[in-house]
Amino acid sequence: MAVKASWLGFLLLVSLWGLSAPALLLRRLREHIQNFQESSNIHPGFVLGHGPGAIPKQGWLEQPLDPFNATDRRIFLQRYWVNDQHRTGQDAPVFLHIGGEGSLGPGSVMTGHPAALAPAWGALVISLEHRFYGLSMPAGGLDVTLLHYLSSRHALADVASAHRALSGLLNVSSSSPWICFGGSYAGSLATWTRLKFPHLVFAAVASSAPLNAVVDFSAYNQVVARSLTQVTIGGSLECLAAASAAFAEVERLLRAGLASQAVLREELGACGSLDLIEDQAELLGALQALVGGTVQYDGQAGAPLGVRQLCGLLLRTWGNRNHSTPYLGLRRAVQRVLRSMGQKCLSSSRAETVAQLRNTEPQVSGVGDRQWLYQTCTEFGFYVTCEGLQCPFSQLPALPFQLDLCEQVFGLSPSSVAQAVAQTNSYYGGQSPGATQVMFVNGDTDPWHVLSVTQDLGPSEPALLIPSASHCFDMAPMRPSDSPSLRLGRQKIFQQLQVWLKDIRRARTDEI
Ligand SMILES: *[C@@H]1O[C@H](CO)[C@@H](O)[C@H](O)[C@H]1NC(C)=O
Ligand SMILES: *[C@@H]1O[C@H](CO)[C@@H](O)[C@H](O)[C@H]1NC(C)=O
Ligand SMILES: *[C@@H]1O[C@H](CO)[C@@H](O)[C@H](O)[C@H]1NC(C)=O
Repeated sequence: MAVKASWLGFLLLVSLWGLSAPALLLRRLREHIQNFQESSNIHPGFVLGHGPGAIPKQGWLEQPLDPFNATDRRIFLQRYWVNDQHRTGQDAPVFLHIGGEGSLGPGSVMTGHPAALAPAWGALVISLEHRFYGLSMPAGGLDVTLLHYLSSRHALADVASAHRALSGLLNVSSSSPWICFGGSYAGSLATWTRLKFPHLVFAAVASSAPLNAVVDFSAYNQVVARSLTQVTIGGSLECLAAASAAFAEVERLLRAGLASQAVLREELGACGSLDLIEDQAELLGALQALVGGTVQYDGQAGAPLGVRQLCGLLLRTWGNRNHSTPYLGLRRAVQRVLRSMGQKCLSSSRAETVAQLRNTEPQVSGVGDRQWLYQTCTEFGFYVTCEGLQCPFSQLPALPFQLDLCEQVFGLSPSSVAQAVAQTNSYYGGQSPGATQVMFVNGDTDPWHVLSVTQDLGPSEPALLIPSASHCFDMAPMRPSDSPSLRLGRQKIFQQLQVWLKDIRRARTDEI
Protein backbone atom coordinates (compact mmCIF):
# COMPACT_ATOMS: atom_id res chain seq x y z
CA MET A 1 0.00 0.00 0.00
CA ALA A 2 2.77 2.37 0.87
CA VAL A 3 4.12 1.91 -2.61
CA LYS A 4 0.82 2.76 -4.20
CA ALA A 5 0.38 5.76 -1.95
CA SER A 6 3.74 7.29 -2.81
CA TRP A 7 3.04 6.60 -6.44
CA LEU A 8 -0.22 8.52 -6.26
CA GLY A 9 1.56 11.33 -4.49
CA PHE A 10 4.01 11.44 -7.32
CA LEU A 11 1.27 11.65 -9.94
CA LEU A 12 -0.34 14.44 -8.03
CA LEU A 13 2.85 16.48 -7.86
CA VAL A 14 3.51 16.04 -11.53
CA SER A 15 0.07 16.95 -12.71
CA LEU A 16 0.04 20.05 -10.55
CA TRP A 17 3.08 21.46 -12.28
CA GLY A 18 2.80 20.05 -15.74
CA LEU A 19 6.00 19.33 -17.54
CA SER A 20 8.77 21.82 -17.77
CA ALA A 21 12.34 21.86 -18.99
CA PRO A 22 13.21 19.22 -21.59
CA ALA A 23 15.57 17.35 -19.29
CA LEU A 24 12.78 17.23 -16.75
CA LEU A 25 10.53 15.34 -19.12
CA LEU A 26 13.14 12.59 -19.30
CA ARG A 27 13.26 12.57 -15.50
CA ARG A 28 9.47 12.25 -15.35
CA LEU A 29 9.59 9.30 -17.72
CA ARG A 30 12.32 7.67 -15.67
CA GLU A 31 10.36 8.05 -12.44
CA HIS A 32 7.22 6.84 -14.12
CA ILE A 33 8.88 3.66 -15.37
CA GLN A 34 10.78 3.03 -12.16
CA ASN A 35 7.65 3.38 -10.06
CA PHE A 36 5.73 1.18 -12.39
CA GLN A 37 8.35 -1.57 -12.36
CA GLU A 38 8.89 -1.42 -8.63
CA SER A 39 5.26 -1.42 -7.62
CA SER A 40 3.97 -3.95 -10.12
CA ASN A 41 6.44 -6.67 -9.25
CA ILE A 42 6.37 -6.84 -5.49
CA HIS A 43 4.56 -9.78 -3.94
CA PRO A 44 1.17 -8.50 -2.82
CA GLY A 45 1.66 -9.92 0.66
CA PHE A 46 4.95 -8.28 1.56
CA VAL A 47 5.14 -6.41 4.82
CA LEU A 48 6.52 -2.92 4.87
CA GLY A 49 7.67 -1.71 8.23
CA HIS A 50 10.02 -2.31 11.08
CA GLY A 51 8.89 -5.59 12.59
CA PRO A 52 11.36 -8.46 12.68
CA GLY A 53 9.54 -10.32 9.90
CA ALA A 54 9.23 -7.38 7.56
CA ILE A 55 10.67 -7.80 4.10
CA PRO A 56 12.10 -5.58 2.93
CA LYS A 57 13.20 -3.66 6.00
CA GLN A 58 13.62 0.07 5.83
CA GLY A 59 16.30 1.69 7.95
CA TRP A 60 18.07 4.98 8.47
CA LEU A 61 21.75 5.75 8.92
CA GLU A 62 23.13 8.82 10.59
CA GLN A 63 25.61 10.19 8.09
CA PRO A 64 27.83 13.24 8.37
CA LEU A 65 26.65 16.05 6.12
CA ASP A 66 30.29 16.89 5.46
CA PRO A 67 32.28 13.66 5.49
CA PHE A 68 35.44 15.60 4.63
CA ASN A 69 35.43 17.82 7.71
CA ALA A 70 35.48 15.98 11.02
CA THR A 71 34.80 19.13 13.03
CA ASP A 72 31.50 19.69 11.22
CA ARG A 73 29.02 17.76 13.39
CA ARG A 74 25.94 18.18 11.22
CA ILE A 75 24.29 14.95 10.15
CA PHE A 76 21.48 13.78 7.92
CA LEU A 77 19.49 10.56 7.86
CA GLN A 78 20.11 8.33 4.89
CA ARG A 79 17.52 5.74 3.99
CA TYR A 80 18.37 2.13 3.15
CA TRP A 81 16.41 -1.03 2.37
CA VAL A 82 17.34 -4.59 3.32
CA ASN A 83 16.13 -7.84 1.83
CA ASP A 84 17.60 -10.75 3.80
CA GLN A 85 15.25 -13.48 2.64
CA HIS A 86 17.93 -15.15 0.51
CA ARG A 87 20.82 -14.63 2.91
CA THR A 88 22.58 -17.85 3.86
CA GLY A 89 24.94 -16.64 6.57
CA GLN A 90 27.07 -13.87 7.96
CA ASP A 91 29.76 -14.35 5.34
CA ALA A 92 27.35 -14.48 2.39
CA PRO A 93 28.00 -11.90 -0.32
CA VAL A 94 26.39 -8.48 0.01
CA PHE A 95 24.77 -7.04 -3.11
CA LEU A 96 24.60 -3.29 -2.64
CA HIS A 97 22.21 -1.49 -4.95
CA ILE A 98 23.35 2.11 -5.10
CA GLY A 99 20.71 4.77 -5.56
CA GLY A 100 21.00 7.57 -8.08
CA GLU A 101 19.26 10.88 -8.72
CA GLY A 102 15.85 9.88 -7.42
CA SER A 103 14.10 8.16 -4.55
CA LEU A 104 14.58 4.45 -3.87
CA GLY A 105 11.59 2.34 -2.95
CA PRO A 106 11.30 -1.17 -1.51
CA GLY A 107 11.38 -2.54 -5.05
CA SER A 108 15.08 -1.65 -5.19
CA VAL A 109 15.85 -4.75 -3.11
CA MET A 110 12.95 -6.91 -4.27
CA THR A 111 12.78 -6.87 -8.06
CA GLY A 112 15.10 -6.81 -11.02
CA HIS A 113 18.78 -7.15 -10.45
CA PRO A 114 20.57 -7.29 -8.04
CA ALA A 115 17.64 -8.88 -6.15
CA ALA A 116 17.05 -11.44 -8.89
CA LEU A 117 20.69 -12.54 -8.70
CA ALA A 118 20.75 -12.91 -4.92
CA PRO A 119 19.24 -16.41 -4.46
CA ALA A 120 22.02 -18.09 -6.45
CA TRP A 121 24.63 -16.93 -3.93
CA GLY A 122 22.49 -16.58 -0.85
CA ALA A 123 23.33 -12.90 -0.91
CA LEU A 124 22.11 -10.16 1.37
CA VAL A 125 20.56 -7.37 -0.71
CA ILE A 126 20.82 -3.78 0.47
CA SER A 127 20.00 -0.54 -1.28
CA LEU A 128 21.14 2.91 -0.28
CA GLU A 129 19.28 6.05 -1.28
CA HIS A 130 21.45 8.88 -2.60
CA ARG A 131 21.85 11.90 -0.34
CA PHE A 132 19.54 14.81 -1.22
CA TYR A 133 17.07 12.59 -3.09
CA GLY A 134 13.92 10.83 -1.98
CA LEU A 135 13.66 10.93 1.80
CA SER A 136 17.44 11.11 2.40
CA MET A 137 17.21 14.85 2.66
CA PRO A 138 19.34 16.96 4.99
CA ALA A 139 17.40 19.44 7.09
CA GLY A 140 17.37 23.03 5.96
CA GLY A 141 16.18 22.92 2.38
CA LEU A 142 17.99 23.09 -0.91
CA ASP A 143 19.81 26.37 -0.70
CA VAL A 144 23.16 26.39 -2.54
CA THR A 145 24.99 26.60 0.78
CA LEU A 146 23.59 23.10 1.47
CA LEU A 147 23.77 21.80 -2.09
CA HIS A 148 27.48 22.36 -1.64
CA TYR A 149 27.33 18.94 0.12
CA LEU A 150 25.75 17.24 -2.87
CA SER A 151 28.17 15.54 -5.27
CA SER A 152 29.19 12.10 -6.45
CA ARG A 153 32.18 12.33 -4.09
CA HIS A 154 29.89 12.86 -1.13
CA ALA A 155 27.74 9.97 -2.33
CA LEU A 156 30.81 7.72 -2.48
CA ALA A 157 31.81 8.74 1.03
CA ASP A 158 28.29 7.79 2.13
CA VAL A 159 28.76 4.32 0.62
CA ALA A 160 32.02 3.89 2.50
CA SER A 161 30.52 4.86 5.85
CA ALA A 162 27.35 2.85 5.15
CA HIS A 163 29.60 -0.15 4.53
CA ARG A 164 30.99 0.21 8.02
CA ALA A 165 27.69 0.97 9.74
CA LEU A 166 25.66 -1.73 7.99
CA SER A 167 28.35 -4.37 8.52
CA GLY A 168 27.86 -3.78 12.23
CA LEU A 169 24.08 -3.50 12.20
CA LEU A 170 23.54 -6.55 10.01
CA ASN A 171 26.38 -8.72 11.31
CA VAL A 172 28.16 -8.87 7.98
CA SER A 173 31.39 -10.82 8.28
CA SER A 174 34.55 -9.00 7.26
CA SER A 175 35.14 -11.75 4.73
CA SER A 176 31.84 -11.11 2.92
CA PRO A 177 32.43 -9.80 -0.59
CA TRP A 178 30.46 -6.64 -1.36
CA ILE A 179 29.34 -6.18 -4.93
CA CYS A 180 27.95 -2.81 -5.99
CA PHE A 181 25.22 -2.47 -8.57
CA GLY A 182 23.73 0.62 -10.11
CA GLY A 183 22.09 1.93 -13.25
CA SER A 184 22.72 5.16 -15.15
CA TYR A 185 24.43 7.76 -12.90
CA ALA A 186 24.32 5.19 -10.09
CA GLY A 187 26.11 2.79 -12.44
CA SER A 188 28.93 5.31 -12.56
CA LEU A 189 28.83 5.45 -8.77
CA ALA A 190 29.06 1.65 -8.63
CA THR A 191 32.14 1.80 -10.86
CA TRP A 192 33.70 4.52 -8.75
CA THR A 193 33.11 2.70 -5.45
CA ARG A 194 35.30 -0.10 -6.79
CA LEU A 195 37.78 2.45 -8.15
CA LYS A 196 38.11 4.48 -4.95
CA PHE A 197 37.46 1.81 -2.29
CA PRO A 198 38.83 -1.49 -3.65
CA HIS A 199 39.43 -2.62 -0.06
CA LEU A 200 35.69 -2.31 0.68
CA VAL A 201 34.08 -3.25 -2.61
CA PHE A 202 34.98 -6.55 -4.23
CA ALA A 203 33.38 -5.97 -7.64
CA ALA A 204 30.79 -3.85 -9.43
CA VAL A 205 28.20 -4.22 -12.15
CA ALA A 206 27.61 -0.87 -13.85
CA SER A 207 24.52 -0.72 -16.01
CA SER A 208 24.23 2.06 -18.61
CA ALA A 209 26.78 4.13 -16.71
CA PRO A 210 27.67 7.44 -18.40
CA LEU A 211 31.27 7.49 -17.17
CA ASN A 212 32.35 10.28 -19.44
CA ALA A 213 31.01 13.65 -18.36
CA VAL A 214 30.34 15.97 -21.29
CA VAL A 215 28.90 19.46 -21.52
CA ASP A 216 27.42 19.15 -25.00
CA PHE A 217 25.79 15.75 -25.33
CA SER A 218 24.89 16.01 -29.01
CA ALA A 219 25.72 12.33 -29.47
CA TYR A 220 22.51 11.54 -27.59
CA ASN A 221 20.29 12.50 -30.49
CA GLN A 222 22.60 10.85 -33.00
CA VAL A 223 21.90 7.54 -31.26
CA VAL A 224 18.20 8.41 -31.06
CA ALA A 225 18.22 8.91 -34.84
CA ARG A 226 20.06 5.63 -35.42
CA SER A 227 17.74 3.73 -33.10
CA LEU A 228 14.68 5.08 -34.91
CA THR A 229 16.00 3.28 -38.01
CA GLN A 230 16.74 0.02 -36.20
CA VAL A 231 14.50 -2.66 -37.68
CA THR A 232 14.76 -5.09 -34.73
CA ILE A 233 12.91 -2.64 -32.46
CA GLY A 234 10.39 -1.51 -35.05
CA GLY A 235 12.31 1.38 -36.59
CA SER A 236 13.01 2.16 -40.24
CA LEU A 237 14.57 4.82 -42.42
CA GLU A 238 11.02 5.99 -43.17
CA CYS A 239 10.34 6.38 -39.46
CA LEU A 240 13.38 8.60 -38.99
CA ALA A 241 12.36 10.67 -42.02
CA ALA A 242 8.84 11.00 -40.61
CA ALA A 243 10.17 12.13 -37.21
CA SER A 244 12.25 14.71 -38.99
CA ALA A 245 9.27 15.88 -41.05
CA ALA A 246 7.11 16.16 -37.93
CA PHE A 247 9.65 18.42 -36.24
CA ALA A 248 10.04 20.50 -39.39
CA GLU A 249 6.28 21.02 -39.37
CA VAL A 250 6.30 22.10 -35.73
CA GLU A 251 9.05 24.60 -36.49
CA ARG A 252 7.17 25.88 -39.51
CA LEU A 253 4.04 26.45 -37.43
CA LEU A 254 6.05 28.18 -34.71
CA ARG A 255 7.41 30.64 -37.26
CA ALA A 256 4.10 31.19 -39.05
CA GLY A 257 2.71 33.78 -36.68
CA LEU A 258 0.49 34.04 -33.65
CA ALA A 259 -2.56 32.30 -35.09
CA SER A 260 -0.69 29.17 -36.08
CA GLN A 261 1.15 29.20 -32.75
CA ALA A 262 -2.20 29.15 -31.02
CA VAL A 263 -3.28 26.17 -33.12
CA LEU A 264 -0.02 24.40 -32.32
CA ARG A 265 -0.43 25.09 -28.63
CA GLU A 266 -3.89 23.63 -28.72
CA GLU A 267 -2.95 20.64 -30.83
CA LEU A 268 0.18 19.63 -28.95
CA GLY A 269 -1.18 20.44 -25.55
CA ALA A 270 1.52 22.96 -24.67
CA CYS A 271 0.92 24.44 -21.21
CA GLY A 272 1.66 28.06 -22.03
CA SER A 273 1.90 30.64 -24.79
CA LEU A 274 4.50 30.11 -27.50
CA ASP A 275 5.34 33.61 -28.67
CA LEU A 276 8.65 33.91 -26.82
CA ILE A 277 11.59 32.19 -28.48
CA GLU A 278 12.60 30.60 -25.18
CA ASP A 279 9.16 29.11 -24.75
CA GLN A 280 9.39 27.72 -28.26
CA ALA A 281 12.73 26.18 -27.37
CA GLU A 282 11.15 24.60 -24.28
CA LEU A 283 8.42 23.05 -26.36
CA LEU A 284 10.84 21.73 -28.99
CA GLY A 285 13.08 20.39 -26.26
CA ALA A 286 10.17 18.63 -24.59
CA LEU A 287 9.14 17.07 -27.90
CA GLN A 288 12.70 15.88 -28.45
CA ALA A 289 12.81 14.47 -24.95
CA LEU A 290 9.58 12.67 -25.67
CA VAL A 291 11.05 10.99 -28.75
CA GLY A 292 14.40 10.50 -27.00
CA GLY A 293 12.67 9.03 -23.97
CA THR A 294 10.71 6.65 -26.18
CA VAL A 295 14.04 5.36 -27.53
CA GLN A 296 15.75 5.42 -24.13
CA TYR A 297 13.07 3.28 -22.47
CA ASP A 298 12.05 1.26 -25.50
CA GLY A 299 10.38 -2.02 -24.64
CA GLN A 300 10.28 -1.49 -20.88
CA ALA A 301 7.33 -2.15 -18.62
CA GLY A 302 5.60 1.13 -17.83
CA ALA A 303 6.96 3.02 -20.84
CA PRO A 304 4.07 4.92 -22.45
CA LEU A 305 5.38 4.27 -25.97
CA GLY A 306 8.01 2.15 -27.66
CA VAL A 307 9.83 2.77 -30.90
CA ARG A 308 7.53 0.41 -32.77
CA GLN A 309 4.40 2.26 -31.63
CA LEU A 310 5.94 5.68 -32.21
CA CYS A 311 6.96 4.74 -35.74
CA GLY A 312 3.50 3.29 -36.29
CA LEU A 313 1.94 6.62 -35.32
CA LEU A 314 4.38 8.72 -37.37
CA LEU A 315 3.89 6.62 -40.50
CA ARG A 316 0.16 6.16 -40.37
CA THR A 317 -2.00 8.04 -42.85
CA TRP A 318 -4.37 10.32 -40.99
CA GLY A 319 -7.56 11.77 -42.41
CA ASN A 320 -6.75 15.42 -41.81
CA ARG A 321 -5.09 16.92 -44.86
CA ASN A 322 -4.33 20.28 -43.24
CA HIS A 323 -1.05 18.96 -41.83
CA SER A 324 1.62 16.53 -42.91
CA THR A 325 0.76 13.11 -41.55
CA PRO A 326 3.95 12.72 -39.46
CA TYR A 327 2.96 15.83 -37.53
CA LEU A 328 -0.41 14.28 -36.74
CA GLY A 329 1.38 11.13 -35.63
CA LEU A 330 3.61 13.14 -33.31
CA ARG A 331 0.50 14.79 -31.92
CA ARG A 332 -0.99 11.39 -31.13
CA ALA A 333 2.29 10.33 -29.54
CA VAL A 334 2.25 13.40 -27.29
CA GLN A 335 -1.34 12.72 -26.28
CA ARG A 336 -0.55 9.13 -25.47
CA VAL A 337 2.48 9.99 -23.33
CA LEU A 338 0.66 12.76 -21.46
CA ARG A 339 -2.31 10.55 -20.79
CA SER A 340 -0.31 7.63 -19.53
CA MET A 341 1.77 9.87 -17.27
CA GLY A 342 -1.30 11.66 -15.97
CA GLN A 343 -0.25 15.08 -17.29
CA LYS A 344 -2.46 17.81 -18.54
CA CYS A 345 0.01 19.58 -20.81
CA LEU A 346 3.47 19.42 -22.33
CA SER A 347 6.09 22.03 -21.33
CA SER A 348 5.29 25.15 -19.36
CA SER A 349 6.95 28.49 -19.91
CA ARG A 350 10.67 28.94 -19.47
CA ALA A 351 10.05 31.48 -16.74
CA GLU A 352 7.99 28.95 -14.84
CA THR A 353 10.69 26.31 -15.20
CA VAL A 354 13.29 28.68 -13.80
CA ALA A 355 11.01 29.68 -10.93
CA GLN A 356 10.36 26.05 -10.08
CA LEU A 357 14.05 25.16 -10.14
CA ARG A 358 14.87 28.13 -7.93
CA ASN A 359 12.53 26.93 -5.23
CA THR A 360 14.54 25.60 -2.30
CA GLU A 361 11.69 23.75 -0.60
CA PRO A 362 12.40 20.04 -1.16
CA GLN A 363 8.68 19.27 -1.43
CA VAL A 364 8.06 21.98 -3.98
CA SER A 365 11.04 21.46 -6.23
CA GLY A 366 9.67 18.25 -7.71
CA VAL A 367 11.32 14.88 -7.57
CA GLY A 368 14.90 16.03 -7.26
CA ASP A 369 14.93 18.29 -10.31
CA ARG A 370 16.81 21.11 -8.62
CA GLN A 371 19.32 18.69 -7.12
CA TRP A 372 20.03 16.95 -10.39
CA LEU A 373 20.35 20.26 -12.23
CA TYR A 374 22.91 21.23 -9.60
CA GLN A 375 24.87 18.04 -10.22
CA THR A 376 24.83 18.60 -13.98
CA CYS A 377 26.05 22.17 -13.49
CA THR A 378 28.79 21.22 -11.01
CA GLU A 379 29.87 17.77 -12.24
CA PHE A 380 28.45 16.23 -15.38
CA GLY A 381 26.89 18.53 -17.98
CA PHE A 382 24.98 15.95 -20.07
CA TYR A 383 23.04 18.67 -21.91
CA VAL A 384 21.28 17.04 -24.83
CA THR A 385 21.54 19.12 -27.98
CA CYS A 386 20.75 18.61 -31.63
CA GLU A 387 23.68 19.43 -33.85
CA GLY A 388 24.91 18.39 -37.26
CA LEU A 389 23.14 16.79 -40.16
CA GLN A 390 22.58 13.52 -38.34
CA CYS A 391 20.19 15.13 -35.91
CA PRO A 392 16.61 14.82 -37.14
CA PHE A 393 15.11 17.30 -34.71
CA SER A 394 15.12 21.01 -34.14
CA GLN A 395 18.39 22.78 -33.32
CA LEU A 396 16.51 24.31 -30.43
CA PRO A 397 17.14 24.23 -27.54
CA ALA A 398 20.79 25.01 -28.20
CA LEU A 399 23.56 24.56 -25.67
CA PRO A 400 23.74 28.17 -24.40
CA PHE A 401 20.03 28.05 -23.64
CA GLN A 402 20.54 25.00 -21.45
CA LEU A 403 23.70 26.27 -19.78
CA ASP A 404 21.81 29.42 -18.97
CA LEU A 405 19.82 27.44 -16.41
CA CYS A 406 23.01 26.94 -14.35
CA GLU A 407 23.53 30.68 -14.43
CA GLN A 408 19.93 31.63 -13.67
CA VAL A 409 19.32 29.06 -10.97
CA PHE A 410 22.72 28.81 -9.26
CA GLY A 411 24.76 31.71 -10.63
CA LEU A 412 27.21 29.30 -12.27
CA SER A 413 28.78 30.49 -15.50
CA PRO A 414 29.19 28.31 -18.62
CA SER A 415 32.95 28.35 -18.15
CA SER A 416 32.66 27.09 -14.60
CA VAL A 417 30.42 24.28 -15.82
CA ALA A 418 32.97 23.33 -18.48
CA GLN A 419 35.73 23.40 -15.91
CA ALA A 420 33.76 21.24 -13.48
CA VAL A 421 33.02 18.66 -16.18
CA ALA A 422 36.70 18.45 -17.13
CA GLN A 423 37.57 18.04 -13.45
CA THR A 424 35.10 15.19 -13.07
CA ASN A 425 36.73 13.32 -15.94
CA SER A 426 40.21 13.81 -14.61
CA TYR A 427 39.16 12.75 -11.11
CA TYR A 428 37.40 9.52 -12.20
CA GLY A 429 39.15 8.77 -15.49
CA GLY A 430 36.17 9.10 -17.84
CA GLN A 431 35.77 6.07 -20.07
CA SER A 432 38.98 4.44 -18.83
CA PRO A 433 38.51 4.55 -15.07
CA GLY A 434 41.16 1.91 -14.38
CA ALA A 435 39.00 0.05 -11.87
CA THR A 436 39.33 -3.74 -11.86
CA GLN A 437 36.49 -6.24 -11.44
CA VAL A 438 33.88 -3.98 -12.94
CA MET A 439 31.46 -5.23 -15.55
CA PHE A 440 30.03 -2.55 -17.83
CA VAL A 441 26.63 -3.37 -19.26
CA ASN A 442 24.90 -1.31 -21.95
CA GLY A 443 22.18 -1.54 -24.55
CA ASP A 444 23.07 -0.48 -28.07
CA THR A 445 19.85 1.44 -28.72
CA ASP A 446 20.30 3.45 -25.50
CA PRO A 447 21.49 7.01 -26.25
CA TRP A 448 23.67 6.92 -23.12
CA HIS A 449 25.85 3.97 -24.16
CA VAL A 450 28.21 6.28 -26.08
CA LEU A 451 29.38 7.78 -22.76
CA SER A 452 29.97 4.37 -21.20
CA VAL A 453 32.43 1.51 -21.70
CA THR A 454 31.26 -0.79 -24.48
CA GLN A 455 34.45 -2.74 -25.20
CA ASP A 456 36.48 -4.78 -22.73
CA LEU A 457 39.13 -2.62 -21.09
CA GLY A 458 40.99 -5.73 -19.95
CA PRO A 459 40.28 -9.19 -18.57
CA SER A 460 38.92 -7.82 -15.30
CA GLU A 461 36.96 -4.99 -16.92
CA PRO A 462 34.59 -6.78 -19.27
CA ALA A 463 32.02 -4.88 -21.29
CA LEU A 464 28.71 -6.19 -22.49
CA LEU A 465 26.79 -4.36 -25.21
CA ILE A 466 23.34 -5.90 -25.49
CA PRO A 467 21.85 -5.65 -28.98
CA SER A 468 18.48 -3.88 -29.27
CA ALA A 469 18.37 -3.10 -25.54
CA SER A 470 17.45 0.26 -24.02
CA HIS A 471 18.64 2.13 -20.91
CA CYS A 472 19.27 -0.08 -17.84
CA PHE A 473 17.08 -2.77 -19.35
CA ASP A 474 19.24 -5.51 -17.82
CA MET A 475 18.23 -4.32 -14.34
CA ALA A 476 14.49 -4.43 -15.00
CA PRO A 477 12.40 -7.34 -13.72
CA MET A 478 12.35 -10.26 -16.15
CA ARG A 479 9.32 -10.54 -18.41
CA PRO A 480 8.13 -13.16 -20.88
CA SER A 481 8.42 -10.54 -23.64
CA ASP A 482 12.16 -9.99 -23.06
CA SER A 483 14.19 -10.44 -26.22
CA PRO A 484 16.62 -13.36 -26.59
CA SER A 485 19.53 -10.90 -26.60
CA LEU A 486 18.41 -9.40 -23.29
CA ARG A 487 18.07 -12.87 -21.74
CA LEU A 488 21.52 -13.76 -22.98
CA GLY A 489 22.87 -10.49 -21.58
CA ARG A 490 21.45 -11.23 -18.14
CA GLN A 491 22.95 -14.70 -18.32
CA LYS A 492 26.36 -13.21 -19.04
CA ILE A 493 26.12 -10.98 -15.98
CA PHE A 494 25.26 -14.08 -13.95
CA GLN A 495 28.25 -15.95 -15.36
CA GLN A 496 30.62 -13.09 -14.66
CA LEU A 497 29.51 -13.00 -11.03
CA GLN A 498 29.97 -16.73 -10.87
CA VAL A 499 33.57 -16.37 -12.02
CA TRP A 500 34.33 -13.61 -9.52
CA LEU A 501 32.61 -15.24 -6.58
CA LYS A 502 34.17 -18.62 -7.32
CA ASP A 503 37.58 -16.98 -7.14
CA ILE A 504 36.89 -15.60 -3.72
CA ARG A 505 35.53 -18.90 -2.43
CA ARG A 506 38.65 -20.64 -3.69
CA ALA A 507 40.87 -18.03 -2.06
CA ARG A 508 39.00 -18.45 1.21
CA THR A 509 39.36 -22.23 1.10
CA ASP A 510 43.09 -21.88 0.43
CA GLU A 511 43.49 -19.75 3.55
CA ILE A 512 41.96 -22.49 5.65
C1 LIG B 1 34.75 22.52 9.12
O1 LIG B 1 33.66 22.64 10.01
C2 LIG B 1 33.79 23.65 10.95
C3 LIG B 1 32.62 23.54 11.93
O2 LIG B 1 31.39 23.62 11.24
C4 LIG B 1 33.86 25.00 10.26
O3 LIG B 1 34.02 26.04 11.20
C5 LIG B 1 35.01 25.00 9.27
O4 LIG B 1 35.02 26.18 8.52
C6 LIG B 1 34.92 23.81 8.34
N1 LIG B 1 36.11 23.74 7.53
C7 LIG B 1 36.08 23.66 6.20
C8 LIG B 1 37.38 23.56 5.51
O5 LIG B 1 35.02 23.67 5.59
C1 LIG C 1 23.99 -10.08 15.26
O1 LIG C 1 24.63 -11.03 16.07
C2 LIG C 1 24.30 -10.90 17.44
C3 LIG C 1 25.16 -11.87 18.25
O2 LIG C 1 25.64 -12.91 17.44
C4 LIG C 1 22.81 -11.14 17.60
O3 LIG C 1 22.45 -10.96 18.95
C5 LIG C 1 22.03 -10.17 16.74
O4 LIG C 1 20.65 -10.44 16.80
C6 LIG C 1 22.50 -10.25 15.32
N1 LIG C 1 21.85 -9.21 14.54
C7 LIG C 1 21.42 -9.41 13.30
C8 LIG C 1 20.79 -8.24 12.63
O5 LIG C 1 21.53 -10.47 12.72
C1 LIG D 1 -8.44 22.50 -41.86
O1 LIG D 1 -8.33 23.85 -41.44
C2 LIG D 1 -9.49 24.63 -41.64
C3 LIG D 1 -9.17 26.08 -41.29
O2 LIG D 1 -8.26 26.17 -40.23
C4 LIG D 1 -10.62 24.05 -40.81
O3 LIG D 1 -11.81 24.81 -40.99
C5 LIG D 1 -10.86 22.62 -41.20
O4 LIG D 1 -11.81 22.02 -40.34
C6 LIG D 1 -9.57 21.82 -41.12
N1 LIG D 1 -9.76 20.50 -41.68
C7 LIG D 1 -9.66 19.40 -40.96
C8 LIG D 1 -9.91 18.11 -41.64
O5 LIG D 1 -9.33 19.41 -39.74
